Amino acid sequence: MQNAMEDDRFQQFNKVKLSNGASITKNLLENTSNEKKTHKSKQPTNQLKSGLLGWYAVCSIREISGDDPYFFTMFNEPLMIYKDKDSNLRCIKDLCPHRGASFRGGQIIDGELVCPYHGAKFSSTGKCTNLSRITCNHIVDSNYNNYATKIHLYQYLCKEVGDYIFINYTGSSSTNLEEIEVKENIDSKILNTYGFKTEEYKFEEVIVDFKCDWARIVENHLDILHLFWVHGETIPDADVNRNVITSFNQEITRDSNQIESKYKYKEKDKGEFIRIKFLPPGRIIIYKGNPEESRYIQVLDHIPLAKNQARVIVRHYRKFLKNNFFNSLILFKNLQHRIFYKVFAEDYMILRTQTFNDQMGYIEKDNVKLLGEDKMIQYYWDWYKNSLNEDKPWDIHPIKSDTNSVHQELAMLYPPENKILAEKNNREIVVKLIARLIIPIGLAFLLI
Ligand code: FES
Ligand SMILES: [Fe+2]
Repeated sequence: MQNAMEDDRFQQFNKVKLSNGASITKNLLENTSNEKKTHKSKQPTNQLKSGLLGWYAVCSIREISGDDPYFFTMFNEPLMIYKDKDSNLRCIKDLCPHRGASFRGGQIIDGELVCPYHGAKFSSTGKCTNLSRITCNHIVDSNYNNYATKIHLYQYLCKEVGDYIFINYTGSSSTNLEEIEVKENIDSKILNTYGFKTEEYKFEEVIVDFKCDWARIVENHLDILHLFWVHGETIPDADVNRNVITSFNQEITRDSNQIESKYKYKEKDKGEFIRIKFLPPGRIIIYKGNPEESRYIQVLDHIPLAKNQARVIVRHYRKFLKNNFFNSLILFKNLQHRIFYKVFAEDYMILRTQTFNDQMGYIEKDNVKLLGEDKMIQYYWDWYKNSLNEDKPWDIHPIKSDTNSVHQELAMLYPPENKILAEKNNREIVVKLIARLIIPIGLAFLLI
């Protein structure tokens, strides 16, 4: 029923588009004039609960090792994650509440964060524990409470789930975590909520940063058509290559948590090609068949670091090749990473030239035409535009021409354009191959 309604709405939208194609495309993506508002009422309503502010998987748990904090940015805002003395994860604004220094270059001593500028120390709850260090003792003595409440870390809610660290990014950090309003339960972002049994899988992961618009990368990962052309030579699947021209029956469903599209071959005997699930704001899940039975799941998390800077965490979960010894023998991890990096480099070739584009409305109205296969992308842009109008995440910590952008530059840890990651991986493959040859040859010599 839901599908029928969705299809109906889309048919309606298409009819309007056909009779007045250019203006409706523009109208769907821009929403400022009265005339546009009239058209907007004909659009599919945005049923998704989550907007651009909400739960994001911002890094893998492996990024937080030992006492090393993890620095990053979200919508331009410098942030940091570390483990406090009780091993609780804390996500804080990277700003010391004494005189505004960054904690880069600071220390974590016995689970307490120490500012590199004047040595203020902060407890797990964010309270300064050595006020006397940063102001005269007698002032502290007479006015302790006043200082203690002011000199306090600003925090975001932070949780570890499924080897990911999630933060509830609201754009407004708080000195009191209890006061933070959580609009949506984190369960709506978690794979097991949708029937995937992640405990039955092994996974490989890579992280790559892009210098391009966050929204464009998400769009790219919702786009199945480009797989055949851009990645046709790289994806190890005989059905995905440049010579395959295929079209699919799409079955799109939306509820308050997700948009999902199932792509089925038009030839009935060929069955299903793939399913794509979008869990806003930043998560995409790609798999085949029912979630409980899928042999393979791809999970992509998109993190809006800053304007035209975004991070993607890609995980490939598999139910096959689970033997660690065998995998290490065949260099499975390195070989899979090789494919990841190649796929990213191919995407980056396209995405890097689409950097300035908050919205498809930027493109002249007659320049683009979304086709039938772009239906999911249309729904995505529909959500994005609504969320952008409502949440305005880029207006919270705007970068002006004279803003020091050092945090944004430092946040780029895994840039794809300099090929360092791919080259490092290739070197590892060569070294491991040589090691695998030398050891048996050495043993053979010893035996002789
Ligand atoms: S700015 Fe951090 S202690 Fe002064
Ligand atoms: Fe791609």
